[in-house]
Amino acid sequence: MIRPCSLSDLNSILQIESQSFPKSPYDWTTFLRLHMLHPDTFLVCCNADRLGGEILGYIIFSQAGHVISIAVHPHHRRRGVGARLVRRAMDTSHLQKVWAEVRRSNLGAQAFYSKLEFQIAGLIPNYYGNEDALIVQWIPPLTHGR
Ligand SMILES: CC(C)(COP(=O)(O)OP(=O)(O)OC[C@H]1O[C@@H](n2cnc3c(N)ncnc32)[C@H](O)[C@@H]1OP(=O)(O)O)[C@@H](O)C(=O)NCCC(=O)NCCS
Repeated sequence: MIRPCSLSDLNSILQIESQSFPKSPYDWTTFLRLHMLHPDTFLVCCNADRLGGEILGYIIFSQAGHVISIAVHPHHRRRGVGARLVRRAMDTSHLQKVWAEVRRSNLGAQAFYSKLEFQIAGLIPNYYGNEDALIVQWIPPLTHGR
């Protein structure tokens, strides 16, 4: 199930984080700040419909549709967890677009977003210090009355 993150999830999230972003993991303070800023769109996917279930992955996105971070525990990848989390952002009806920055070297994440029909929309030189970011974005298809 997918539910809003609770503060008691943060230790599990930190473990996923350190395994997913070994070069630049967010720390506890950063997650706490993000939790305060985005209480409704800091979401976790877990394997039980209550607090205490194993956290499989998380996503944080802004009200504007910016995917601030997403990661899935290495043991639970390629099972659709990441796609379910991003689709939550894609299903948020008021969003004009959903976008994220991806390291140029992160071919797995690029393939992941491409599978979800995101397109490369730009590049930010040295976004990660010594590495460029690709901006990937998805724009909802036009629907009647939109
Ligand atoms: C990117 C990430 C979130 C994907 O999560 P996931 O749960 O494994 O993704 P899904 O299982 O939903 O993948 C959906 C589809 O995306 C594509 N995909 C996902 N990961 C891929 C990879 N490493 N290589 C190639 N294609 C991939 C596949 O088409 C996959 O479908 P399939 O498994 O049926 O072939 C996960 O790999 C991760 O946490 N990576 C480390 C952190 C990271 O890079 N975050 C993104 C930073 S911008």
